[in-house]
Amino acid sequence: MNFERLATDFAGIKLKTPVMGASGTFGFGIEYKDFLDLGDVGAIISKGLTPLPRPGNTGVRVAETPGGMLNCIGLENPGIDVFLRDILPRVQQEASETAFIANFSAGTVEEYGMMAAKLDVDGVDGVEVNISCPNVKEGGIVFGTDPRAAAAVTEAVKKNTKKPVIVKLSPNVTDIALMARAVEEAGADAIALINTLTGMVIDTRTWQPLLGNITGGLSGPAVKPIAVRMVWQAAQAV
Ligand SMILES: Cc1cc2nc3c(=O)[nH]c(=O)nc-3n(C[C@H](O)[C@H](O)[C@H](O)COP(=O)(O)O)c2cc1C
Repeated sequence: MNFERLATDFAGIKLKTPVMGASGTFGFGIEYKDFLDLGDVGAIISKGLTPLPRPGNTGVRVAETPGGMLNCIGLENPGIDVFLRDILPRVQQEASETAFIANFSAGTVEEYGMMAAKLDVDGVDGVEVNISCPNVKEGGIVFGTDPRAAAAVTEAVKKNTKKPVIVKLSPNVTDIALMARAVEEAGADAIALINTLTGMVIDTRTWQPLLGNITGGLSGPAVKPIAVRMVWQAAQAV
C-alpha cells in the first residue's frame, strides 16, 4: 500500500509508517508475514534478546484479566548469538522494507554493553533497551526502578553502539519523570513507555496464584490510561 504521508523519522530511524509491533507481541516480525504485509509496518521491535538462550518460565504464563492480560513469559528467546546467526539474515530477506529494532536485556551493566556491541551490525536499525529486569550483581533490584542503575545501563549501551538507543522505561516507579531525565542525561536518543505493570491473579477454585511465576506483567486496554499519563509526564520532563 502507499503510505507516503505516514512516513516519519523516529530518532534517526526511517519509518514507512509510525506503526510498530511492541516487543514480545510480534516475535521477530517474520512469523507474521502470512497475516499482514510487513512492508506496511514501520518497524518490527523484536522479542527481548538476552546474552544466553532462555527457556522462559514454567507453568501458566498468560492469564486473561478484565480489559487486559497478565504474562510471565520470562524472556523466552534463542539468545543473541542464535539471533544474529539464524534469525537476522531471514529478517533482512523477508522484511527488507521494514525497520528492525532489537529489544534486549541483561543481568549486569557490562552485559548490556556487550549486547549493544553485538547488535551494532547491518540489519539492525536501532536498539530498544529493556530495563525492567533485575540487576544480578546488586541484589536483584530492577534496573528500571533505580535512576542511577538505569543511567549506567544507558551509558554502557551508548558507548557500544552507533545505532539510535531507545530506553524502555518501567511503569513500576513512583516518579517516571525522574527516570526519564536520568536516561536522557545518560544519552538515550528516545524513550519508550510503558512496559507492563506488575500484577497478580488468584485462581478462586484453588486459592492459589494462577501464574507459574506468581506475578506477571499487566498489559492491554486496561493500562492505556496509565501509559498515556506517563507519556505526558515524561514528555514534560525531557
Ligand atoms: C506476551 C508479552 C511479552 C512481552 N515481552 C516483552 C519483551 O520481551 N521485552 C519488552 O521490552 N517488553 C515486552 N512486553 C511488553 C510490551 O512490549 C508492551 O510494552 C506492553 O505489553 C504494554 O503495551 P500494550 O498494553 O499495548 O500491550 C511484552 C508484552 C507481552 C504482552
